[in-house]
Amino acid sequence: MRVILVANPKGGSGKTTLSTNLAGYLASAGERVAMLDLDRQKSATQWLAMRSAALPSIELLHEGQKGDSDWLVIDSPAGLHGKNLERALKLAHKVAVPIAPSLFDIRAGQDFLAALHAEKAVRKGHAFIGVVGMRVDQRTRAGVTLEQFMAQQDLPVLAHLRNTQHYVNAAFEGKSLFDLPRHVAERDIEQWHGLIDWLED
Ligand SMILES: Nc1ncnc2c1ncn2[C@@H]1O[C@H](COP(=O)(O)OP(=O)(O)OP(=O)(O)O)[C@@H](O)[C@H]1O
Ligand SMILES: [Mg+2]
Repeated sequence: MRVILVANPKGGSGKTTLSTNLAGYLASAGERVAMLDLDRQKSATQWLAMRSAALPSIELLHEGQKGDSDWLVIDSPAGLHGKNLERALKLAHKVAVPIAPSLFDIRAGQDFLAALHAEKAVRKGHAFIGVVGMRVDQRTRAGVTLEQFMAQQDLPVLAHLRNTQHYVNAAFEGKSLFDLPRHVAERDIEQWHGLIDWLED
């Protein structure tokens, strides 16, 4: 099983949006996928509960439970640090870090990336990190600053996902971008190519 942890202790950085859409992509590609929801707010769990049985299925795993899926996508809570971060990293092969465009998000992202680099799983090359720009608008100062920050990190920049209601509206129905009609989501799916290549790498 390949395990992807989506993490950034900054609240509202886009973890649940990224993790549910990653799981949705994998399911739509015919992979057997499960999610583990480490957040007490249970947003990913609620999203899965909204998901119609007619859509490609995504299993919900509980902590300690061993599934038999090909992929596990882990959504993690705001404030993840210390022992809980260490425990989550032990499970993961890859860590996707979503970062939103604001001064505070960039500063917090910088601190988290430093904390990640200090973790044994990352130092020893058991878990590989990539960064994802969330709600990016290149016409804004914050969007440009986030892009510059990410480019300086010496880490793969997996995607810059634009700010769009497609993610927000899809979530109401337990859907990902990949469950929407192709003509609706096409422009956004294009922004996922780097992320998808990284998954399969
Ligand atoms: N690309 C996007 N376009 C539009 N809205 C987005 C996008 N990404 C995230 N959002 C919105 O931003 C908000 C925060 O996203 P999300 O809930 O995924 O963050 P989070 O990191 O999981 O938050 P928390 O730390 O509370 O768990 C949500 O309202 C979500 O719908
Ligand atoms: Mg969340």
